[in-house]
Amino acid sequence: MNANTHTPAAAVRPARPEDYPGIARLGDPHAGPEQLSQRAARLLGYDQHSAATDPQFHRLVAEAGNALVATAAIRADWAGVVQAGRFWVDAFVDPAWRGRGLGATLVDHLERAVPGPVRELGACLREDHVPAAEHLAEQGFEERFRSWGAHLDLRAFEPSAYAGLLARLEAAGYRFVPYPELHAPDKEARLLALKRHVDRDIVAFEPIVPAASEDVLDEGYLPDGLVVALAPDGEMVGLASLRREGPEGPIGCGLTGVHRDHRGRGLATALKVRSLEVAKALGATTIGTGGGGANLAMRRVNERLGFVVEPLWLTFISERGGRAHEVTHGA
Ligand SMILES: CC(C)(COP(=O)(O)OP(=O)(O)OC[C@H]1O[C@@H](n2cnc3c(N)ncnc32)[C@H](O)[C@@H]1OP(=O)(O)O)[C@@H](O)C(=O)NCCC(=O)NCCS
Repeated sequence: MNANTHTPAAAVRPARPEDYPGIARLGDPHAGPEQLSQRAARLLGYDQHSAATDPQFHRLVAEAGNALVATAAIRADWAGVVQAGRFWVDAFVDPAWRGRGLGATLVDHLERAVPGPVRELGACLREDHVPAAEHLAEQGFEERFRSWGAHLDLRAFEPSAYAGLLARLEAAGYRFVPYPELHAPDKEARLLALKRHVDRDIVAFEPIVPAASEDVLDEGYLPDGLVVALAPDGEMVGLASLRREGPEGPIGCGLTGVHRDHRGRGLATALKVRSLEVAKALGATTIGTGGGGANLAMRRVNERLGFVVEPLWLTFISERGGRAHEVTHGA
């Protein structure tokens, strides 16, 4: 802990299930009662999952009188990815209690609660949480990466609006084929070669945006939602895919990628139209996607399709000594 940090008159203890309405309010002080109760339930579920799967997970609260005035959590696992020595923290302080070192005090407690050396602390913030970003900078965190999420209302999505684009590309000799309908014996090898080719250009910061981590044919992929583009000479030059996290989970967009020699012709847009048509036919009403902040081409494709881009997520890292270690998936 910073030796100059003034210790505020608030008692720090581990969070209990009954704290979550207060924790939800700290994270979003302007939310209405219904939003707050949904947020509390979601956070409790997420933390319970973390507690069951991530031995390093801890959440603390700071209490003054009967009110929660701050909360912070630490976790080693982010979306199934564990990086030795890197931990992720979140911290929320009641506006009336800011500027007294309470957030730093909680993070200091958490850092001491996890075993082994902490080499890096990471934090992810939405760009509209500017005061928190300034505070992180004061605490020695540097912004390292930007990513964006986006969502599309599939009920309003009209694939026929892109019929002209598809017709132009087909007239030029391209074909768009659902992967299960391809019968070439080497189709899997060709698909994986194309994926390795496009993986090189993905703008990523592990594990915020996974690069080369999820296979297009792993357990999350939806066969009918994987559409490939074949060039006039029969080469496989593009793909768009859909994923489902868990058997009952929502359908989301998977990897979209086009071979470097065929970019800028509308292929990614056309491929994604075909996969979104499948998502719509499967009954999805909204669908999410995302990417690295500097991936302007992918962002443009999504905007052309009507996706609404959400406020950016900023990733901050604070070096606590040592270097980043190898990435392991599926912790
Ligand atoms: C992103 C990618 C799939 C786009 O493929 P594509 O076939 O070139 O895409 P399209 O031709 O349909 O559309 C690209 C759009 O981005 C625009 N664009 C390209 N580079 C751009 C840039 N640097 N800044 C802004 N816009 C850009 C193009 O002008 C075009 O928009 P327009 O149709 O309005 O002119 C391709 O670059 C790729 O495979 N990248 C690597 C894999 C990847 O990053 N996938 C996404 C993972 S989140």
